[in-house]
Amino acid sequence: MTSLVFDPFSAAFVEDPYDVYRRMRDEAPVYHNAKHGFYALSRFEDVQSAARDWQTFMTEPGVELDDWGNLLRVNSFLNLDPPRHDELRNVVRRHFSPVATRELAARVRETAGDLLRAVLRGGGGDLAQEFAWPLPVRVSASLLGLPRGDDSLLNQLLRTLVQREPGRVELPEASFEAARELRAYFERSAKTRRRDPNKDVLDTLVVAEAEGRITMGELVDLCCLLFIAAIDTVASIILNSLVQLERHPEQRQWLAEHPSGIATAVEELLRFEPPAQYLARTTKREVSMHGTTIPASSRVLLVFAAANRDERRFSDPDRLDIRREPRRSLAFGDGIKFCLGAPLARLEAAIALELVLDSMPTYRIMELRRSAAGPVRGIDRLLVLS
Ligand code: HEM
Repeated sequence: MTSLVFDPFSAAFVEDPYDVYRRMRDEAPVYHNAKHGFYALSRFEDVQSAARDWQTFMTEPGVELDDWGNLLRVNSFLNLDPPRHDELRNVVRRHFSPVATRELAARVRETAGDLLRAVLRGGGGDLAQEFAWPLPVRVSASLLGLPRGDDSLLNQLLRTLVQREPGRVELPEASFEAARELRAYFERSAKTRRRDPNKDVLDTLVVAEAEGRITMGELVDLCCLLFIAAIDTVASIILNSLVQLERHPEQRQWLAEHPSGIATAVEELLRFEPPAQYLARTTKREVSMHGTTIPASSRVLLVFAAANRDERRFSDPDRLDIRREPRRSLAFGDGIKFCLGAPLARLEAAIALELVLDSMPTYRIMELRRSAAGPVRGIDRLLVLS
């Protein structure tokens, strides 16, 4: 048997990580990668417990394995522990509640409909470029209060920012350049904004800054987090879902005929192909698990995607079953860092799938190009015929 290697930066891993995950769960539930200097947890129970135990598995200095954290999100609450984590999350949380999110449904539907009509006029197209990326860009930009005219700039900056080169841990210089530009853009937007606390997220942040609850640096970090966390993840769930449904034509047909099943299907697709495959923690103290001792100050990956395929938790986990009785997966993490945008992500994914299945129920995928390695299992290009 070949030796078990979990190298999240390798091109082979990007193509199909699930076999490696299965071997980690069975053969090395506390996997150690000496080359990149991290441990990895892969069983559902272990990942869930660690995600909930923020006192032992700290977020600081950041949840990324590579130097993405240095790129622009050092002070956002994604990369902080309590008490500052909770204070910053509280500044914006009301904008992302299930009730606030439901009010966005009409806007999401309209945006998705417009984008899809343009694709259909050509008999098909690149659903990554023309649909799944621009949809969350517009939805999140409008939530933040940014003008529609800036969408293509924001889309382009974001796509450059998340670029990685296969096999390389270091981020390309273009990513840093895009990060600097995005920060400058958010700072400009905040400074030219009049204060109006009840409108959009940027208003809320401008008021919080004026009242001294956050600094201008934190305001920019928050804009970056709320924008970036909401784009490649949402694009990923939409695109990976479309790929999986094409590979399971009977389930696709059933779903096209039963749109009321979409919410349940989205939960299963999130379990099966979770966009955020893994994120990092740092141990505050020495931890012993499954006979392995993890020293204090070690980097530990919580491999959400491996946990979601754990047969100790889900029966027949490698089978996609969009009618599966939903059982909580770890697609959105757990504990105090549970994804703030989960209701929004579910809404966008459900509407996107519903519209695609309604307008092109038997679409065919002609080309699929995955994004280079990173924690998000992304797709750069998905060429379909309707
Ligand atoms: C399908 C889409 C999405 C997936 C799979 C996803 C996944 C996740 C996961 C796994 C975490 C936990 C991070 C950790 O434990 O370190 C997280 C946190 C977060 N997500 Fe999402 N996310 C998605 C969409 C969104 C959207 C639309 C937003 C909108 C703003 C968002 C905002 C955030 C924020 C702010 C955090 C940090 C929470 C904290 O540290 O308290 N996400 N997300």
